[in-house]
Amino acid sequence: MCGIVGYIGGQEAWPIIYEGLRLLEYRGYDSAGIAVVDPHGNIQLRKTVGKVNGLDEDGAGPKPQGTVGLGHTRWATHGRPTHENAHPHTDCQKRIAVVHNGIVENYRELKRRLTDDGHVFESETDTEVLTHLVEEGMDQGLTFQEAFRRMGRMVKGSQAISAILQGDAAQICALRLGHAGGIVVAQSEGQTIIGSDLPALLPLLHTESNIGQVGFLETNEMAVVTRNGVDYQDLDGNPIVKQTRMVSQADVQVDKAGYQHFMLKEIMEQPQAVASAMRERIDFEARRVDLPDFPFTKQEIADLDRVILIGCGTSLHAAQVGRHLVERYGGLPAEAESASEFRYRNPYISPRTLVVSIGQSGETADTVAAMQMAKDKGGKLLTICNAEGSQATRIADGTLYMRAGIEIGVASTKTFLASLTILNLLAIFLGQSRGILDQEKSQELVDGLAQAPRLIGDLLADQANYRRIAQLYADFDYFLFLGRGVNAPIASEGALKLKEISYIHAEGYPAGEMKHGPIALIDNAMATVALAPKDFLYDKVVNNVKEVKARDGRVLAVLTEGDTELAAEVDHVLYIPEAPEHLIPLLATVPLQLLAYNIALLRERDVDQPRNLAKSVTVE
Ligand code: AGP
Repeated sequence: MCGIVGYIGGQEAWPIIYEGLRLLEYRGYDSAGIAVVDPHGNIQLRKTVGKVNGLDEDGAGPKPQGTVGLGHTRWATHGRPTHENAHPHTDCQKRIAVVHNGIVENYRELKRRLTDDGHVFESETDTEVLTHLVEEGMDQGLTFQEAFRRMGRMVKGSQAISAILQGDAAQICALRLGHAGGIVVAQSEGQTIIGSDLPALLPLLHTESNIGQVGFLETNEMAVVTRNGVDYQDLDGNPIVKQTRMVSQADVQVDKAGYQHFMLKEIMEQPQAVASAMRERIDFEARRVDLPDFPFTKQEIADLDRVILIGCGTSLHAAQVGRHLVERYGGLPAEAESASEFRYRNPYISPRTLVVSIGQSGETADTVAAMQMAKDKGGKLLTICNAEGSQATRIADGTLYMRAGIEIGVASTKTFLASLTILNLLAIFLGQSRGILDQEKSQELVDGLAQAPRLIGDLLADQANYRRIAQLYADFDYFLFLGRGVNAPIASEGALKLKEISYIHAEGYPAGEMKHGPIALIDNAMATVALAPKDFLYDKVVNNVKEVKARDGRVLAVLTEGDTELAAEVDHVLYIPEAPEHLIPLLATVPLQLLAYNIALLRERDVDQPRNLAKSVTVE
């Protein structure tokens, strides 16, 4: 959730760390802080409440000078977003500055003991125990590195921790514990940067080559960065030989390309995202799905007896759509479940179970933990993921990369459509491989998929219409999103988009469930968004729409072009083109994204960085 950046090199650390924090702000923006070791060897600290640019605006005089530093942008877990709780945190003697991403699960008992031993705490955070633990180790005669490792052995929980020490010997220690909170180390031309993820790091290496040597920390691994380079070691100090690779800045470039928000840019990129997800995975000559990156053999596919799809938030909605697709086209029993629930059950998983995790970041703590549990139980593990080299891709037996490009808007959009595309491919591939789909049916499905980028592009063309409809609904404070079958999770996704960026209360509901409770909410103050495209459940949804209209509800319907009959009965319509059934979830999502986006604009919300949220949820 939180973002970490550290720098050692020949340049001023402040502007580099500041820029890195701006790039990491999507992970959290409750407060920010930077610590720099000045030319006298003292730690200079500056913090702000709120977004990173507050560090520039607090009128605290000239920026701290020095070529070694550490920065943090926070998503608050323990302690409110205040100046005192902002990272970096220092020890009693102000010799050490620490930043942290994750939760110290045993911080209460550690804090009690440290307080009894005379350590003075200045914040309410769990993080601060880390600084005092390192201080305690150094007071006992350990070196900074030894004390840092000792601290790493004493704390419980999944987290990433980094610290700098005052003095002439430039040194940053960074540690990863458990599965949450990645740490990436990038080196180039005498400079080293550590940070929470790759896209935020490489642009910071202002080098001629624009290329960095990159290493990812695994669980219980530590990096010690000095002016001489990087040493990787385990928690006992044993050296680790780290596989690194060269990555260029072009691989991770991000900007808004003229759009007002990243979210809108990413919505507009969806035709390419969908096309890219299909690239080299469809043989258009043979009209077959071919997944060269699928990690299991024909025999293993034939032996599968069950598919479990897991994810969180938007990725959970993708999993729920995937369940329908796998059942329908893959011919296998399929379930979808939130990773945060799944990880604490004791599900039956065997080598014949295919567990598919879905995640934009590949770093969501619950998803990663659920994957590890499925792996420990012997399941076959596949991940559909956008972030290269992320935790999920390293745990899984294989990855189907979304290839959607970096997604910056906190509200996921293009990665959702990329996930749905890959889930279609996966379902068809399983059906083909297991002899469930005959050639004619699988060719028909593949031909349908090939139309998706064009149809999505058509849907994006009339932006003025989405703005017009949003104006009519922006004043409603309650929304019900209804859909059936494969479109029920799309209703949930529409509600999630609206609530997360506009802060309007919105519920996604399977339309058939409405009469079992939510119908009591219907009146003229409640807006209902009904997904009623022409599919085999159309007639059922029509009945649900009529039930809402009979109770004075306002209905905005998402209908298939040409459906004048239902259009006449509802208040407003957003049309999607006529399309094969497996494309409908993709197409129906687009108007809902643009409805949410335009309502959020009208309500003057912070679309790309809505309150309380973070792009990567790396804490439980
Ligand atoms: C999506 O709009 C949300 N910001 C959120 O629900 C997100 O999908 C969820 O946190 C899962 O993230 P992941 O895909 O990176 O695992």
